[in-house]
Amino acid sequence: MAVLYATHVLLLILSTATTLHFSASKAARLNMTCSEKERNALLSFKHGLADPSNRLSSWSDKSDCCTWPGVHCNNTGKVMEINLDTPAGSPYRELSGEISPSLLELKYLNRLDLSSNYFVLTPIPSFLGSLESLRYLDLSLSGFMGLIPHQLGNLSNLQHLNLGYNYALQIDNLNWISRLSSLEYLDLSGSDLHKQGNWLQVLSALPSLSELHLESCQIDNLGPPKRKANFTHLQVLDLSINNLNHQIPSWLFNLSTTLVQLDLHSNLLQGQIPQIISSLQNIKNLDLQNNQLSGPLPDSLGQLKHLEVLNLSNNTFTCPIPSPFANLSSLRTLNLAHNRLNGTIPKSFEFLRNLQVLNLGTNSLTGDMPVTLGTLSNLVMLDLSSNLLEGSIKESNFVKLLKLKELRLSWTNLFLSVNSGWVPPFQLEYVLLSSFGIGPKFPEWLKRQSSVKVLTMSKAGIADLVPSWFWNWTSQIEFLDLSNNLLSGDLSNIFLNCSVINLSSNLFKGTLPSVSANVEVLNVANNSISGTISPFLCGKENATNKLSVLDFSNNVLYGDLGHCWVHWQALVHLNLGSNNLSGVIPNSMGYLSQLESLLLDDNRFSGYIPSTLQNCSTMKFIDMGNNQLSDAIPDWMWEMQYLMVLRLRSNNFNGSITEKICQLSSLIVLDLGNNSLSGSIPNCLDDMKTMAGEDDFFANPLSYSYGSDFSYNHYKETLVLVPKGDELEYRDNLILVRMIDLSSNKLSGAIPSEISKLSALRFLNLSRNHLSGGIPNDMGKMKLLESLDLSLNNISGQIPQSLSDLSFLSVLNLSYNNLSGRIPTSTQLQSFEELSYTGNPELCGPPVTKNCTDKEELTESASVGHGDGNFFGTSEFYIGMGVEFAAGFWGFCSVVFFNRTWRRAYFHYLDHLRDLIYVIIVLKVRRLLGKL
Ligand SMILES: *[C@@H]1O[C@H](CO)[C@@H](O)[C@H](O)[C@H]1NC(C)=O
Ligand SMILES: *[C@@H]1O[C@H](CO)[C@@H](O)[C@H](O)[C@H]1NC(C)=O
Ligand SMILES: *[C@@H]1O[C@H](CO)[C@@H](O)[C@H](O)[C@H]1NC(C)=O
Ligand SMILES: *[C@@H]1O[C@H](CO)[C@@H](O)[C@H](O)[C@H]1NC(C)=O
Ligand SMILES: *[C@@H]1O[C@H](CO)[C@@H](O)[C@H](O)[C@H]1NC(C)=O
Ligand SMILES: *[C@@H]1O[C@H](CO)[C@@H](O)[C@H](O)[C@H]1NC(C)=O
Repeated sequence: MAVLYATHVLLLILSTATTLHFSASKAARLNMTCSEKERNALLSFKHGLADPSNRLSSWSDKSDCCTWPGVHCNNTGKVMEINLDTPAGSPYRELSGEISPSLLELKYLNRLDLSSNYFVLTPIPSFLGSLESLRYLDLSLSGFMGLIPHQLGNLSNLQHLNLGYNYALQIDNLNWISRLSSLEYLDLSGSDLHKQGNWLQVLSALPSLSELHLESCQIDNLGPPKRKANFTHLQVLDLSINNLNHQIPSWLFNLSTTLVQLDLHSNLLQGQIPQIISSLQNIKNLDLQNNQLSGPLPDSLGQLKHLEVLNLSNNTFTCPIPSPFANLSSLRTLNLAHNRLNGTIPKSFEFLRNLQVLNLGTNSLTGDMPVTLGTLSNLVMLDLSSNLLEGSIKESNFVKLLKLKELRLSWTNLFLSVNSGWVPPFQLEYVLLSSFGIGPKFPEWLKRQSSVKVLTMSKAGIADLVPSWFWNWTSQIEFLDLSNNLLSGDLSNIFLNCSVINLSSNLFKGTLPSVSANVEVLNVANNSISGTISPFLCGKENATNKLSVLDFSNNVLYGDLGHCWVHWQALVHLNLGSNNLSGVIPNSMGYLSQLESLLLDDNRFSGYIPSTLQNCSTMKFIDMGNNQLSDAIPDWMWEMQYLMVLRLRSNNFNGSITEKICQLSSLIVLDLGNNSLSGSIPNCLDDMKTMAGEDDFFANPLSYSYGSDFSYNHYKETLVLVPKGDELEYRDNLILVRMIDLSSNKLSGAIPSEISKLSALRFLNLSRNHLSGGIPNDMGKMKLLESLDLSLNNISGQIPQSLSDLSFLSVLNLSYNNLSGRIPTSTQLQSFEELSYTGNPELCGPPVTKNCTDKEELTESASVGHGDGNFFGTSEFYIGMGVEFAAGFWGFCSVVFFNRTWRRAYFHYLDHLRDLIYVIIVLKVRRLLGKL
């Protein structure tokens, strides 16, 4: 009984304790309940907002507002914070609408974060200035517009104010900010401050300010402050992406002794970095990239003991790397890429033990790769690419680089000298070794690298059989470039899975490899691959193939084109040129509706161009030259409005050239030479806008040359197909060329006078036809004409005086016609040899030997003065310079273009254009690949 009682008492005590505990916690929770007033205020606030993803659905009058998402109360149930930002990756969509003044009921609110929402066209409400308790206000990236209300200056407790990236915000003056005496963090990025000359004065009066972000504020002048600016606590100063276009003012370095981060990147700063930069004794992060700074780097940078990140890339610093840099023992990132640094890499760099990123790419550094770089055991990224460094790199250089993930040594004169059994201590992800000496043996050490994503070894001097493990090994890689080596091996049974594969210009043989549906670019041009292409195309009926660039050109493929094109509808660029392919162009190619270029030249295709190709309406480049195609050129081809290059030369096309051709307003190359075309040349050619110079390529770089992608980068070089000799030298000028070649046909009738309105045309070849009539009088208006060939026709009459206005003309052939009369005297026309005029027995005057009779003199003088002024004025300066003048003049655009004969230049041009398109498309793909 006693035991029973005792047990009961114990139970009682226990249960009382539990009850007590329970009521205590309940009381605490009750205390957390928000007041009805605050809840109603929040409900009104919600009411004003549009909430497309219903993230405020649990904000209802049935629940405690302290439990609502985005609301934070303190222990006594006062609403302290509202956090409704929509950061990237958030499951919610942006809020918009109106911010209700009901927020004023939240007397204790100290944090309001509405950043990354969509309050577009809404002004910042001025009542926010009455939220007295506010310490933290973030309205950044939310589309607010209009004047920033000065009432915000009443928030005397405010410590953090972020109004950044509301691009339509206006600031009329900054004086209200000086009242924010507690402010520690201020971000006004994206607002226009270029009229606020006193911003520095005003902001430096904020005694607690420690971070100031004024990125993209259109500030163009850091004039010296009127009074000494006195930031006693400033740690972060961000003035990046402004228009600062003067020297870095020295006083900037005395602004604050507490500065930890100074960001001036992407301005137009000029001149040298002042020695006094060493005053920034606490600086950890200094970013001056993308400016126009020049001269030598000051040694005093080496005194910044705490520096962790130093980015001086993309300026024009010209000097050796100062050896005091080796004292920067805290440095984690050193980026000096894209400058003109010369000299050697200091041996003392071995002291940079904390270095993780060393980027010295694109400079003129010389000498060996110092052994000491190999002691930087924390290095993750080493980029020495595009330098003049030379000499060998040995295993010993890498022994301590255990953490290395990116090795970028492309475009140097360095070569790797390691044993075949070398096992690197690192696992690389990015291996960029193009135009870098690896060969002649295939690098066996790659075999144990199991994390590689990008491997480029183009022009690496490898002359070896690709080992059997390699192709399996590539299945993990995204980007593979082995082009321009002497690699051999049989591709017949290999399977490739990389997104981008470039095996071009090697010695591969066998039949075509098979590829997975992931492959986007496959380039095996310039090898010795044989067999038919049907097995490649027809094996993948069920897959959604991503292949957009396919280049099999310059191999020994034979057979027909098969009927499986329906499986390859992502193709944009297809090059099968220079093989032994035959048969007809199949109807199923019409499925390639994305196609922009189709190159089938130099094969043995016969039959006609199928009408299904009409579906490929975005086509820009068509080359079917040197085949046995016949029948008429279909009319729909003239309706391909994006067509820039049409080359059908050396086939058996017949029929006439209809007037519809004049609709091709983007055409820059029209080559129909060496066919059996008859009829006359349409007299509407002047409708072709690009040829007529009405469509300015330069004004339109994106739609034609994708100019912005041609800025220097490694991919431009390594992805170019089949670089041939000095062809690269005129890459960028070729887009200027305009050409019409209708030679070796059966065209008759007169040369239409409209042709002289093609003022952008550079090459015109109408030779070997049955053309009659005269040379149009106004041809001298084709100011850019460099080559004119009208030979072997029945052209009669006199040579118009205006031809002497063609200042650029370097090739002229009028031979074997019925021209008569005196050759007009000019600097140009006499500079050609007699051969240019031969076979016209009635022509007289220099350079032909026949002298003119009086009668001919008379007619000649009647036509003098016809020309309407030389392009460069009629300066004596050019007299007698002829061809050489033209070459010299053109030289400023293109060094080699004119050093070639017309034919060579012309063929090179076409080859070149192919590379160009290829690069364009590959660059599109590259964008998908991110990081590079
Ligand atoms: C709420 O907490 C306070 C102390 O913080 C206390 O005095 C008060 O009694 C509590 N209210 C309730 C309802 O328990
Ligand atoms: C909650 O906040 C209010 C207002 O600032 C304050 O009076 C109260 O003491 C706070 N309660 C606690 C437990 O911090
Ligand atoms: C800078 O401000 C601090 C504190 O506000 C003050 O003590 C100091 O004298 C000022 N220095 C100058 C040079 O104005
Ligand atoms: C270099 O800086 C200029 C100007 O800021 C910029 O336009 C260019 O894109 C930068 N180049 C590189 C390679 O970052
Ligand atoms: C680096 O270039 C500058 C300017 O061209 C030149 O004066 C200097 O001699 C060069 N230094 C070295 C080590 O090549
Ligand atoms: C390549 O991988 C396949 C399957 O994963 C395997 O059967 C084959 O033996 C491998 N080939 C080589 C040369 O390693």
